[in-house]
Amino acid sequence: MAERETWGTRIGFILAAVGSAVGLGNIWQFPFKTSTEGGAAFVFVYLVAALLIGLPAILGEFVVGRRANINAVEAFDRLKHPAWTVVGALGLLTGLWILSYYSVVGGWVTRYIVGSATGAYFAAPAEYFGRVSMGWEAIAFHGGFMAVTAGIVAFGIEDGIEKATKLMVPSIIVMLVGLAVYAFTLDGAGAAYEFYLSPDFGFIADNLGTIVPYAVSQAFFSLSLGMGAMITYASYLGDDDSLFADGSLIVVLNTAVGLLAGLVVIPLLFVQFGTVPDAAAGGGAGALFVSVAQAFADLGMAGRALGVVFFGVVLVAALSSAISLLEVVTSYVVDNYGYSRPATAFGFGGALFALGTLSAWNTAWLGWFDSLAYGVLLPLSVLLGVIFVGWVYGPEAVDEIQKGTSNGGSFATAWLWSVRTYVLAGVFVTLYLGVTDIYSAPPIPFL
Ligand code: PFF
Repeated sequence: MAERETWGTRIGFILAAVGSAVGLGNIWQFPFKTSTEGGAAFVFVYLVAALLIGLPAILGEFVVGRRANINAVEAFDRLKHPAWTVVGALGLLTGLWILSYYSVVGGWVTRYIVGSATGAYFAAPAEYFGRVSMGWEAIAFHGGFMAVTAGIVAFGIEDGIEKATKLMVPSIIVMLVGLAVYAFTLDGAGAAYEFYLSPDFGFIADNLGTIVPYAVSQAFFSLSLGMGAMITYASYLGDDDSLFADGSLIVVLNTAVGLLAGLVVIPLLFVQFGTVPDAAAGGGAGALFVSVAQAFADLGMAGRALGVVFFGVVLVAALSSAISLLEVVTSYVVDNYGYSRPATAFGFGGALFALGTLSAWNTAWLGWFDSLAYGVLLPLSVLLGVIFVGWVYGPEAVDEIQKGTSNGGSFATAWLWSVRTYVLAGVFVTLYLGVTDIYSAPPIPFL
């Protein structure tokens, strides 16, 4: 077997992982879930979840990937036993499920690049969102987004994407900071900071059963966990990298982008509506599109140019995440079943396009797909991974995580202890609450 490639530089790995992590989960979903799940209370629980559960869990995926040095499914076989490949397979399935509607939202973003250029949403942003987010137009843009994703995975113009990703993270941060400052100067933003930044602990206590599962699953989604992506990326990692240092940096950068997006979206919503609006008024899934669109509309001609640049950068962020989702399954199938890369990428892309038309036709379906991902698939997939790395693979995992660090001994033991105990318990509770929530009110949309 040929020697497997490794990342040229440490920064190459970090950028790729951040490129996968930073995406619609941070810029679209985090502010929107914050607005519907209780504001600062949700933000607070999310931060705790990202740090105390997300970080140990991402380290677990890095351990599996680097140790096994192979794709995310066979990794479990190579490390232990073929039966454990179900964990990797569930990850693949979860990623595909999510990609089906991720691409629909990627289509909205693309639509908004065009809409910004022509000023189409300037007169009535909320109605515009209602019109373009569902129906034939949404299906067409979803198809376009999926085709580009599959095209990049098929023909491997990774070079271009890698360069774009290098620029992406800094440009996203610069643009979000600019917009956040702009929002800050507007009348009526004050109430938003109260809502976004000042957690009511009584509210958290009363609503633990819904806030915890959403916040923990949001951390998984945002960090690209439970979908094989981080396992795959870490499989190209050399032994002299400190997993802990890289993982912490990725978690911090990823969290910062989400927090910044909230600092843009929530104040702009309050300025426009005086509160966080419900879905009918342009809140919920429409929060990013309606709030930022209004800000660009207020800026007139300059707003058109800014809108094109802003949604353009969001599109790069969404694409670099979508590619990593499709790449996980494509590389597995190409390696194992001998299909060609283009046929595999376009085959899966086409099937997911078909599945995603449901979400593009009616956002109630998108909500349903999202609920199932959050409530069941993500926590279940991460839970199995945590059990594997903590209890099944345990001692060898400790050996792996210490590589590349000078005094990793006590840290490695603390990490193992955490995944074996409270991380496992936290993910289990998240899964339990997610499942009972779906069970008590199945959100299946009827057309
Ligand atoms: N982390 C990405 C986001 O926050 O948008 C979504 C994602 C991409 C999840 C790739 C999983 C993945 F493999």
